[in-house]
Amino acid sequence: MFRTHTCGELRASHIGQRITLSGWVQKSRDLGGMTFVDIRDRYGITQLAFNMDKNASLCLEARKLGREFVVQAKGTVIERSSKNTNIPTGEIELDVTDIKVLNASKTPPFTIEDQTDGGDELRMQYRYLDLRRNPVQQKLLLRNKVALETRKYLDELGFMDVETPVLIKSTPEGARDFVVPSRMNPGEFYALPQSPQTFKQLLMVSGIDRYYQIVKCFRDEDLRADRQPEFTQIDCEMSFVEQEDVLNVFEGLIKHLFAEIKGIHFDKAFPRMTYDEAIHMYGSDKPDLRFGMKFNYLNALQGKGFAIFDQAETVLGIVVEGASEYTRKQLDELTEWVKRPQIGAKGLVYVKYNTDGTVKSSVDKFYTEEDFKELAKAHNIQPGDLLLILSGDLAKTQKQMNELRLHVAQEQGIRNTGEFCPVWVLDFPLLEQDEASGRYFAMHHPFTSPKVEDLPLMASNPGAVRANAYDLAMNGVELGGGSIRIHDRGLQEKMFSLLGFTPEQAQEQFGFLMGAFEYGAPPHGGLAFGLDRLVATMSGEESIRDFIAFPKNNSGRDTMIDAPSALETAQLNELGIKIN
Ligand code: AMO
Repeated sequence: MFRTHTCGELRASHIGQRITLSGWVQKSRDLGGMTFVDIRDRYGITQLAFNMDKNASLCLEARKLGREFVVQAKGTVIERSSKNTNIPTGEIELDVTDIKVLNASKTPPFTIEDQTDGGDELRMQYRYLDLRRNPVQQKLLLRNKVALETRKYLDELGFMDVETPVLIKSTPEGARDFVVPSRMNPGEFYALPQSPQTFKQLLMVSGIDRYYQIVKCFRDEDLRADRQPEFTQIDCEMSFVEQEDVLNVFEGLIKHLFAEIKGIHFDKAFPRMTYDEAIHMYGSDKPDLRFGMKFNYLNALQGKGFAIFDQAETVLGIVVEGASEYTRKQLDELTEWVKRPQIGAKGLVYVKYNTDGTVKSSVDKFYTEEDFKELAKAHNIQPGDLLLILSGDLAKTQKQMNELRLHVAQEQGIRNTGEFCPVWVLDFPLLEQDEASGRYFAMHHPFTSPKVEDLPLMASNPGAVRANAYDLAMNGVELGGGSIRIHDRGLQEKMFSLLGFTPEQAQEQFGFLMGAFEYGAPPHGGLAFGLDRLVATMSGEESIRDFIAFPKNNSGRDTMIDAPSALETAQLNELGIKIN
């Protein structure tokens, strides 16, 4: 038997027992008469004790153990003379009588400790060692719990787990496809699913009624902290439902997960706002509601001779509570920050409402103190507050102000990682228009149904049509989204035509789905959560990378296995692929 207990299991109640442990050497300390070796496994750390006086040869053997050696130790559990209250096994140690090296180890390229000295790149190259570290294992454990509780919750409600294929045809979700060449069909390619969207809709036509799947999706898009080329969705679909039914079931899922896993109970219904409200108040369709700083529209500052504001479509302000004491340097830094190309503002105007009642702004030349005091009255700005103002085109300024709002909140330390603020964002527009080409794109995806009351606008003003589409955002992260779908061939055809497809193109790419709609497709709708994002958000982290066992880096590479990589000519030939 390799072990009778794990390295996290032994307590004072085990004192006197003969036991066997197996694990990795975390570190050893040689104190002359005594040698102590900490061994670790997934469950914890236990101290092994070797006494020079009692057994010199065993003690000398222990001294030879290097970091990360895999060892088996037999001995008796004894009380520690100096207890370690920081770890659960800190009251005891193992008085070792036998030690066996199960496998030696090279010195690892970084320390396997909670705080490692390894940089990102090195950790990714030796991800299997990084995964030995406790904080990373905790993240995978949380992921496992979320997946398990999701299954329990959905199973209880009659959802059926159905696997959908991975070698498919393009499912448009707004990214590029990863493609796979077909050897048996030279010159032809499969696409990896950006989501199982079309298949889950087909399952509804099949009468599956309540479907779910915890499923890998693939998107060839620019990577960010919350985006990986392959990621996992909790993907769901339901028949005979309206938007309200879908929201209720999945609000229930999020509540269940937080209650079971984090002991956090959301007593009230999640707040809801329309897409238009979210953009108007926060400049984002995934507003972070952990703090205020709603947008103030400061039209009152126009027409007073300050050309920049006068010529702007909108003048937008946020109030940073208690920040009137920002220094010149801080304000200059903020100005530089909004002027970076990523944000693209031309400048930043500030108004300090000092605690002594005076007002100081960067545009004092154009406004009187009275102007600002009136503004304060209208927008409930208090002495001690700082007003930050951007101006310009409405949509651009809203976007820039969203970035500034998040940035300032980060600086102020009010994006509290222990606080969770969900919000449903409803009534998304059906389409978005590409500025340059004037072409319409589906804002969610082409299978999303327009709101019945907006159907007449589809011909006259497609940009104004609202969709039965919804997102769940939390702490500024889009956790998931979905929609009520089109289930009627005629409407689906109309949608493809709005998106610039010829009837032939629509038939060629999505004929299978439109054909299915002609065989009794029930009304249906659903949604998908990003599992990686959900787990990261539950942990108060923004990057999803550590919540994925083997993630890709920002260039989409797995440096550990060195993928992607070139193919042998023979293999390329077999696939009928020529590379210049
Ligand atoms: P959507 O495209 O909004 O909807 O995706 C659903 C959720 O998946 C997560 N997500 C990602 N997570 C990590 N890396 C990525 N590259 C990535 N892309 C998306 C997000 C997102 O909210 N088929 C529809 C769902 C539906 O209509 O039912 C879909 O895929 O958390």
